[in-house]
Amino acid sequence: MTFQEEILQGIPKQLPEPKPYNSKVNHAPKRKDILNPQEKKLALKNALRYFDKEVHPQLLPELKEELERFGRIYMYRFKPSYRIFARGIDQYPAKSKQAAAIMLMIMNNLDPNVAQHPDELITYGGNGAVFQNWAQYRLTLQFLAEMTDEQTLVMYSGHPMGLFPSHKNAPRVVVTNGMMIPNYSSADHWEKFNALGVSQYGQMTAGSYMYIGPQGIVHGTTITVLNGFRKLGRSPKGGLFVTSGLGGMSGAQPKAGNIAGCITVCAEVNPKAIETRHSQGWVDIVIKDLDELANRVKKAIQNKEVVSIAYQGNIVEVWEKFDSQEIKIDLGSDQTSLHNPWAGGYYPVGVTFEKAQELMAKDSDQFKVLVQQSLRRHADAINKHTAKGTYFFDYGNAFLLEASRAGADIMSEDGSTFRYPSYVQDIMGPMCFDFGFGPFRWVCASGKEEDLRKTDDLAIKVLEDLKKDAPEEIQQQLQDNIHWIKSAEENRLVVGSQARILYADALGRIKIAEAFNKAISKNEIGFVILGRDHHDVSGTDSPYRETSNIYDGSRFTADMAIQNVIGDSFRGATWVSIHNGGGVGWGEVINGGFGMVLDGTKEASNRLQSMLFWDVNNGIARRSWARNKGAEFAIKRAMEAEPNLKVHLPNHVDEDLLDTII
Ligand SMILES: NC(=O)c1ccc[n+]([C@@H]2O[C@H](COP(=O)([O-])OP(=O)(O)OC[C@H]3O[C@@H](n4cnc5c(N)ncnc54)[C@H](O)[C@@H]3O)[C@@H](O)[C@H]2O)c1
Repeated sequence: MTFQEEILQGIPKQLPEPKPYNSKVNHAPKRKDILNPQEKKLALKNALRYFDKEVHPQLLPELKEELERFGRIYMYRFKPSYRIFARGIDQYPAKSKQAAAIMLMIMNNLDPNVAQHPDELITYGGNGAVFQNWAQYRLTLQFLAEMTDEQTLVMYSGHPMGLFPSHKNAPRVVVTNGMMIPNYSSADHWEKFNALGVSQYGQMTAGSYMYIGPQGIVHGTTITVLNGFRKLGRSPKGGLFVTSGLGGMSGAQPKAGNIAGCITVCAEVNPKAIETRHSQGWVDIVIKDLDELANRVKKAIQNKEVVSIAYQGNIVEVWEKFDSQEIKIDLGSDQTSLHNPWAGGYYPVGVTFEKAQELMAKDSDQFKVLVQQSLRRHADAINKHTAKGTYFFDYGNAFLLEASRAGADIMSEDGSTFRYPSYVQDIMGPMCFDFGFGPFRWVCASGKEEDLRKTDDLAIKVLEDLKKDAPEEIQQQLQDNIHWIKSAEENRLVVGSQARILYADALGRIKIAEAFNKAISKNEIGFVILGRDHHDVSGTDSPYRETSNIYDGSRFTADMAIQNVIGDSFRGATWVSIHNGGGVGWGEVINGGFGMVLDGTKEASNRLQSMLFWDVNNGIARRSWARNKGAEFAIKRAMEAEPNLKVHLPNHVDEDLLDTII
């Protein structure tokens, strides 16, 4: 059967052969055994509704075994036999080119070279799911193959509810992931409703089909590391950056450290994750012994080397060792998956990797105690370094939040806030998001490297033109991104689809997209799929991350993210998504994104102008209303450029006047 035929077949009438458990790939850890017997019955009943009644007797014991063995029902048997990766757009069986583009993006998210736990349909972040099971995957692909530009596919947390009549300017797909009644949004609620098969954690770009491998995060991390050293007032050369995690997102850190030009030490407990990143050339050296690590780092500092080192072991050991050895850490952070602390996101110090996996499934209470002990020790070691001058920042992984919940010494003196800033509070927010700069990205749908090169050239030209007349406030941003894109090809950043990322503001995004659309209309390049990370100006409300530099009290609201996805959907997005959870944990964030197919037509030009303008300026308006200086500047500039934009600006109160009252 060809790849196309297998897609069109959907869920096969005749059961495919069972798939042996592939021990060569990185699998999701066994999830918490949270369901009671009645709920387990319900989970099985829910799973069986995907299949004809005749096969239920045969499938039931198999699905029950999956539930018991893995804590979830993945339906491994239904994983397709073809290789999953981003083929060129013309290869998909589809009536709608837009739908074919979405298939390409879904397959990229599940490509074993891209995805963290491909067999469990997890793209990154330990639990960032594209689908809950392989039946959902098969049904979705079949719907996409059948749909026309007069229909919209509705996705409920990985489950394709169906095709509904719409119109050609409507999104082809509307995705919601993990949306809950707010009171049912604790970590255990995720475990329960995911095990029941009725909800999933979509992370950010996993459940919205917009992941482009670690390149996306390499760029953001490079900017963060560069600006971190700028904050310290020193050059990255010979400076030491210590962090952890070589997983989906975190795996970008050593590469970003190399691009920024410093020494990076990244601890990782999982040997498979190390092997992946090392074999991809994302980290230079692997060291398993702490003494050897300390000696190697001392040498690197002495020689001012640019080098990245993976330490196979626990990050807490590194912080403690470097303290006892008096190794000066300049920048410090952490990218363990603390948005998911009890199910494999954070491995406690003093316990082997294997033992930790066993404990989290068999004795979750004891595991939790160990994680919290480890977090307290972790924070103590960091505190010793910051007392000696290390600049430590939370990297959007809920480290400070979970450490504080564990009772770690991590709060400010008056206990009202954390002792350390998040990278958004200090760097991303005031320097990028407030000015509208955020992670704009594109994928060349032809799958050709040559197209990516041409789009890079077009983007450089646009940014260089913009820089000529740009105000002082955004010159550095434009310059950093021109430099980035010029060296992007040489840094071999592509893993999976032919994709590129850079930070641009609304004007930059619109002009770059326009240049692409024109090139497509002249047949110079194939179709281009635009998108962005959810971690952006307007897409995400997350009080400890994207909106942590909002100080008017509104950072615990989620109006911006919801407005954003609604606004994108009627301004021409090809697909939209809105998620509960992503980055910092379920119930802690609402985030959304979009995808937009450019086909070189006038309609595509209209859509991109209208949608991209809104997609950035919505967040700037909100940030400006919160009295953020950069955003006030940026929204005034946007109103000058577009007379139809009218935003009320905040009046600033004299603090002395307020002080007379309270
Ligand atoms: N900085 C950002 O912009 C940004 C963006 C997206 C996500 N994040 C957050 O960063 C975190 C990491 O994301 P990811 O995709 O890399 O997750 P991941 O689960 O793929 O990787 C985390 C890695 O940390 C390792 N690890 C866990 N505990 C450890 C310990 N004590 N010592 C050493 N290694 C340990 C795990 O084995 C895993 O490989 C997540 O919480 C994610 O939400 C940050």
